[in-house]
Amino acid sequence: MCGIVGIVGATPVADRLLDGLKRLEYRGYDSAGIATAVDGRIERRRASGKLIHLAEVLQGDPLPGSTGIAHTRWATHGGPTTNNAHPHATGEVALVHNGIIENFKPLRDELTARGRTLESETDTEVVAHLVSEKVEAGMAPADAVREVLPRLHGAFALAILFRQHPDLLVGARLGSPLVVGYGDGETYLGSDALALAALTQRIAYLEEGDWVVITREGAQIFDRENNPVERPVTISGVTGELVSKGNHRHYMLKEIYEQPIVVAQTLRSYLQRMEERVTLPIPDFDLSAIRRVTIVACGTSFYAGMVAKYWFEQFARVPVDLDVASEFRYRAPVMEEGGLMIVISQSGETADTLAALRHAKSEGQKIAAVVNVPTSTMAREADLLLPTHAGPEIGVASTKAFTCQLAVLAALAANLARAKGRLTPADEKSIVRHLAEAPAALNGALAYDESIEAMAHSVAAARDVLYLGRGTDYPLALEGALKLKEISYIHAEGYAAGEMKHGPIALIDDAVPVIVIAPSGPLFDKTVSNMQEVQARGGRVILISDYDGVQAAGENCLATITMPKVHPLIAPLVYAVPVQLLAYHVAVAKGTDVDQPRNLAKSVTVE
Ligand code: F6R
Repeated sequence: MCGIVGIVGATPVADRLLDGLKRLEYRGYDSAGIATAVDGRIERRRASGKLIHLAEVLQGDPLPGSTGIAHTRWATHGGPTTNNAHPHATGEVALVHNGIIENFKPLRDELTARGRTLESETDTEVVAHLVSEKVEAGMAPADAVREVLPRLHGAFALAILFRQHPDLLVGARLGSPLVVGYGDGETYLGSDALALAALTQRIAYLEEGDWVVITREGAQIFDRENNPVERPVTISGVTGELVSKGNHRHYMLKEIYEQPIVVAQTLRSYLQRMEERVTLPIPDFDLSAIRRVTIVACGTSFYAGMVAKYWFEQFARVPVDLDVASEFRYRAPVMEEGGLMIVISQSGETADTLAALRHAKSEGQKIAAVVNVPTSTMAREADLLLPTHAGPEIGVASTKAFTCQLAVLAALAANLARAKGRLTPADEKSIVRHLAEAPAALNGALAYDESIEAMAHSVAAARDVLYLGRGTDYPLALEGALKLKEISYIHAEGYAAGEMKHGPIALIDDAVPVIVIAPSGPLFDKTVSNMQEVQARGGRVILISDYDGVQAAGENCLATITMPKVHPLIAPLVYAVPVQLLAYHVAVAKGTDVDQPRNLAKSVTVE
């Protein structure tokens, strides 16, 4: 959730640490800070709010020193104040942390009982004091950290700076990612390869329980039993340039517009166009023995999984369990032999989803991971990596990752169906043809951007908005509501259209816009009946359908959005575009921070 960078450098590091934080701001932007070791003391600069505030502080009060640590925070314990900003420091050590120290209260009580004064409300500060106590007692940095780590429960990635040792940093990882970067006469720590992209491409991924001492000469890595270990150095594909917004006003809009290209890019790995066959990146992975599928994910990725449940059941006739990851582990799920767990995650680091993956693995399930970051923890721990090729998604609201996930999941459902003997060659050809039409259809959907922008004001004034859909349009209704809530701060709910009459219809009046997602097709008439029940009670409907649908049912609507007419298989990809654009334009009309909405972070690495 938070982002970490550390440098043991040959030249001053403050500017480079700040640059690293810019790449990590997607992990949180509640506050930020940097500490360096300078002339036998630790110096810190911290600021609440976005990184720009820390940059201003540093401009007024520059920070010398060629070894330092930096942090961008998504607050868990303690508000987003300067005082709670990392690094947390004593006279001897400064420390940055990503994760949650779950037993911080007893540790805090223990420290205060020994007469130590803690200044912040965070869980993190106890670690700084525990390490400091050891150092003050004369221990070397590595020994001090080694003694403290077993006392910490929860999840952490740590980078620790020592006043008396300006030539080294100690890092540790358990439950939160941390990488080591190797430069020329310099060594780095970072939450991910992106953080270090401007410094080096030579990256080693620490494993669970690893801790590391870095100096300018390199890194000494130890496992959780304190044995020295080697972790392979890989060349990261992430380049040094910061991903740009191009001509777009926001990353989110740019990413919405990238969808035709990145979906095409993704499908290339899963479709053999000439042979009209679906395929997998690991062609010999045997799906024929799979008897049950469990899909687990969070947020938008969960809604992609919800769409996929329809496909797996329809094509492969395999039963599918679907769970939000934060619930999965705690409800004693039954996982039988022959089960495949599919985790879906843009970042590949979401703590709840990762915990579900590990739990299922320990129960003997095969794991497939649909992830966008191929070096992420989930990608590395899965048996079957199914990458989406969406490219870096910077806007906090997920857009292009969602449609790429859908593309992968549709292909996976077809692969499973074929492996189970449930797909005729003719059906397979038809699936390939329809999926191959998706990029052009997405382009067609983007053509309605201006008309969606024009109607955004009618939603921007609302306090509550409802989204309705049936079948695979139901998860899209949920996704539309999530997009609107998170970036425009308007309360929105998604419902299965047929469920309205069982309660939510009581909310309908002329102040609540109701967005109905209803492509023409087998469920159209049923959805339109539910829409008319809304209209009969004074509800103002915005209908998203195709030309036929709008002609048939658009008459008494507040507004209509006409999508290209597409096969039901690719409708969820295509109809994602208008719900994304509507949320985007409403947020712009309201003047919110579209790319960095309040209280959120892109990568949620705490449970
Ligand atoms: C919503 C959004 C979140 C993420 C969720 C899962 O726009 O971005 O709901 O979808 O936090 O993140 P990943 O996919 O990285 O596991």
